[in-house]
Amino acid sequence: MTFPPSLRPAALLVPLAAALALATAPAVAQNAPPVKVGFMLPSTGTFAALGDMIEKGFRMYVQEQGGKLGGREIQYFRVDDESDPSKATDNVNRLIKRDQVDVVVGTVHSGVALAMARAARESNTILIVPNAGADAITGPLCAPNIVRSSFSNWQPGYAAGVMATQKGYKRAVSIYWNYAAGQESGKGFAEAFEKGGGKVLKELTLPFPNVEFQALLTEIAALKPDVVFAFFAGAGAAKFVKDYDAAGLKRTIPLVGSGFLTDGVLEAQGDSAQGMMTALHYADGINTPRNNQFRTRFAVQYKLNPDVYAVQGYDAAQILAAGLNAVKGDLKQRDAMLAAMRKTPIDSPRGRYTLAAAGNPIQDFYIREVKGRENLMTGISVKVLADPARGCRM
Ligand code: PHB
Repeated sequence: MTFPPSLRPAALLVPLAAALALATAPAVAQNAPPVKVGFMLPSTGTFAALGDMIEKGFRMYVQEQGGKLGGREIQYFRVDDESDPSKATDNVNRLIKRDQVDVVVGTVHSGVALAMARAARESNTILIVPNAGADAITGPLCAPNIVRSSFSNWQPGYAAGVMATQKGYKRAVSIYWNYAAGQESGKGFAEAFEKGGGKVLKELTLPFPNVEFQALLTEIAALKPDVVFAFFAGAGAAKFVKDYDAAGLKRTIPLVGSGFLTDGVLEAQGDSAQGMMTALHYADGINTPRNNQFRTRFAVQYKLNPDVYAVQGYDAAQILAAGLNAVKGDLKQRDAMLAAMRKTPIDSPRGRYTLAAAGNPIQDFYIREVKGRENLMTGISVKVLADPARGCRM
């Protein structure tokens, strides 16, 4: 009897052997201990509320899956990183070396996250970054075991620059905390704004997490730009927007920013934020079944409206789930797991997105306007914006 090559008995034996191996393989998920997830997030300091929302979002996704990902229970470990880069290496090693976690999820602050990325590379620990935008994490420090469910700092800065150009502003002043997140979002803003024919007259900075804005606000009043771009977040953003208004600047010089300036802090900012326009990869009022379902569940579970940080935490869990599902909870199939974490499209409340080869989301950036207590979506600044991933070699 003659067979075409694909049907020769020898060829048939291989898939049969593979099938037999699968059938007799131990059911990894059933008897395996929980997957250990270590949260390294701020629970004190300026970014405490952001860390809390990330953890809430992550846990909610896991609960939606019945408490298991890839068939395995999840066990949580936690470290408060205090958004303090000087303690970051010790803190992340508490999770990696002491608790021996399988996956680290963190953090908010770029400076802390840079130390985490170095530790993850050295120990080959899986790291999912649910906020910190430090460009280097998906640039020179990129690695197969590191992914991000959030953004690179360049991205929202660039999107805000496009938005400011569309509004016809020509002369800008930037103001931010002088660390990676401020510097890199300022750079992203300047890149888009200058490409659109504008000019950044001056960049004003103060050390993180200082909130003594008065001298810088006086300088802005003297410079009289068409627009001010700001990067602040959390409690610092709440105070900056109020101080900007109290200094009388809101009436004369529009204040724009990456959406962190008004996300999760509108209660605190009150009337001072009304009408402000920002750019971000999430917004209130994204009217899709996916987002509406997410928001309803979040509100029922936590008696709170979710913000961008909750979405990023939720998506960090979705990325982990994509990896664990692909290998049915078998962490030893590490390469297959990491490949699935990178390649599976994420059905996010913000809209569907994929991760770039460097591990950063390729995503739409919305224009949002503050109305009442919401950052309402009013348009799109840039569709499918990919970080340039400068310096990533893998
Ligand atoms: C950052 O440090 O990367 C950072 C912190 C807070 C934000 C956004 C970025 O809201």
